Amino acid sequence: MCTAPHPLAIEAHALFIEANLGNPGLYPGTADLERDVIRWLGELLSHPTAFGHVVSGGTEANITALWIARNLTRRRKVIYGQTAHFSFGKAVDLLGLEPVVVGQDASFRIDVDAVAREIDGDTLAVVGVAGTTELGVVDPIADLAEAVDGRAFLHVDAAFGGMVLPFLRRMGHDVPPFDFSVDGVFSVSTDPHKMGLSTVPSGAILFREEQGAELITVEAPYLTVKDQRSLSGTRCSAAVAASWAVMSHLGREGYTRVVERCMSLTERVADGVRGAGAELVLDPPPMNIVAFHHERPGAVVAAMKEKGWCLSRATHPRAVRIVVMPHAREETVDAMVADLGEVLQKV
Ligand SMILES: Cc1ncc(COP(=O)(O)O)c(C=O)c1O
Repeated sequence: MCTAPHPLAIEAHALFIEANLGNPGLYPGTADLERDVIRWLGELLSHPTAFGHVVSGGTEANITALWIARNLTRRRKVIYGQTAHFSFGKAVDLLGLEPVVVGQDASFRIDVDAVAREIDGDTLAVVGVAGTTELGVVDPIADLAEAVDGRAFLHVDAAFGGMVLPFLRRMGHDVPPFDFSVDGVFSVSTDPHKMGLSTVPSGAILFREEQGAELITVEAPYLTVKDQRSLSGTRCSAAVAASWAVMSHLGREGYTRVVERCMSLTERVADGVRGAGAELVLDPPPMNIVAFHHERPGAVVAAMKEKGWCLSRATHPRAVRIVVMPHAREETVDAMVADLGEVLQKV
């Protein structure tokens, strides 16, 4: 899910290379940029007044959401699907929480009935994913909210999908509600450094309300501000400036064109994969990720690596996974598909 940042993002990043948002009094301009980025993302995710921070990526965003939730209630169980990102494993371990991992339905979405069965008085949070890492599937967030019914915090991990799904919707795709438009969604993660064409490290965590932020606040006597409320101390302002620049420049129109191009290349990859005789896990792919069934995905990935291509594996189900990011070109796709055809004849 890595790609070449937009040239303006790179330029803005370079201008702010030494700035540290961990000590915003020294770099007040970048704190303003952060507020603008959060507002932009909040508007995109149906909640213009969302409270939040720019963080280092999806992992820190997911940890921060569960950190605040835990401090608000001190309950322990976190329910998530086997398709959720491994950062939730880190989060529950760090926070001393208990993971409850549920299976998936026939469409590779979290099994909502299983979630409903698991919720009890010790359930802290339920996690839904809007754009799973392996397949780009959107969990039924509205159904999850109904199952949760206010008894736990509902966190949505849209680290990848947050900068894709709103634009797919603008293109006319049928995208189910996945963000703050769903009553009961407590927090949403979204990463400008994935499909947002910003620089690394640039993630974001957004909350419906500021409530609870004080519970992760620590005094910071030697800084220009009196306290800090983020997991990271020193924070990369350069990536915030990069996000600000690319969001201001592209706007929703520009991002829609980026996603449109990725989806047309995704269809080209999918055609090539079908032509090579492989069966897509989801046909058509719901987002810019193509996955096809294979008994030995690791062997395919290794053989493609020898030819210079970086594909990866999916585990639920066992498949080869190809993420079509904005730096891809038609001629690159065609060359990759040709090599893939040869590899699939042998492996
Ligand atoms: C859905 C999802 N959540 C979280 C993450 C973790 O993001 P990061 O690697 O930026 O910490 C990823 C990474 O691909 C992801 O796909």
